[in-house]
Amino acid sequence: MDHPRPELFDFHGVSMTHYFTDNWENVQNFKARPDDIVVATYPKAGTTWLCYILDLLYFRQTHPDRETTVPIYERVPFLEMTMPSYPLGTEMADTLTTSPRIIKTHLPVQFLPKSFWEQNCKIVYCARNAKDNAVSYFHFDRMEKLQPEPGDWSSFLQRFREGKMVFGSWFDHVCGWWEKKQTYSNIHYMFFEDMVEDTGREIKHLCSFLGLSTSEEEKEKIRGDVQFDVMKANPMTNLSEDGSLDFSVSQFLRKGKVGDWKNHFTVAQNEQFDELYKQKMKNTTLQFRTEI
Ligand code: A3P
Repeated sequence: MDHPRPELFDFHGVSMTHYFTDNWENVQNFKARPDDIVVATYPKAGTTWLCYILDLLYFRQTHPDRETTVPIYERVPFLEMTMPSYPLGTEMADTLTTSPRIIKTHLPVQFLPKSFWEQNCKIVYCARNAKDNAVSYFHFDRMEKLQPEPGDWSSFLQRFREGKMVFGSWFDHVCGWWEKKQTYSNIHYMFFEDMVEDTGREIKHLCSFLGLSTSEEEKEKIRGDVQFDVMKANPMTNLSEDGSLDFSVSQFLRKGKVGDWKNHFTVAQNEQFDELYKQKMKNTTLQFRTEI
């Protein structure tokens, strides 16, 4: 059944759609376990890529069958998700049969259920430069029928600048999690651009953070499995089975590049964005690369 595209509304100061707030009480009261691993991102920052890497690091050798039978969005539940004809994210997390649980969220830092902090859970946050993030989000909203209508690129970019996106402002999201990292030591803050530049190096950093003693050979195998073309050809990671995505409009694994923003931003849009960026990011030490 087709559902109308949802409207954005202000939810405690953050733009959201009801698909991510309908189960709010259960999300806020979610009981974390000390060994839970949280993958936190602003949408389109490489979440699926990171979830798949973590899933392979923990389960590739012990659960080889799931490689061909369980799509990534079932292996790594999306905590706050409530989608039509689909189990709630909180229920999926509670019924996972593998351990540790790897749990995905796009929540801004102030909305993360408090139990994750109380249990001192490990959190991996991945951020992507604003310009590529905006472009990727635009194409995603074009194909994802359960997201608000994106409009044309120029009106989408204007909304992105204003933070009127599902899960709010990119600026608030990446800076909020960055600030939290200064006081909560169990956050590993990563960058999409670093993953593209040297995936093997980033996998090694992840292993050290998680305390995994994965062999060199296994890490190399995983590096091969998570390359863009390999994930794009894999029905368990390309989201081809996700019924709300319209693949005739765009692809989920679309380009996977750093710098695609240059094909979208006009010179004027780029200048205006740089101006806003300078102002919004003036009080943070967080730095991004828009090309590599
Ligand atoms: P593009 O739209 O720029 O191609 P998320 O999982 O957070 O929704 O992020 C999706 C973005 O990550 C898409 O960006 C997608 O192509 C990119 N991505 C996913 N897997 C990737 C991989 N293995 N290598 C490079 N980029 C990847």
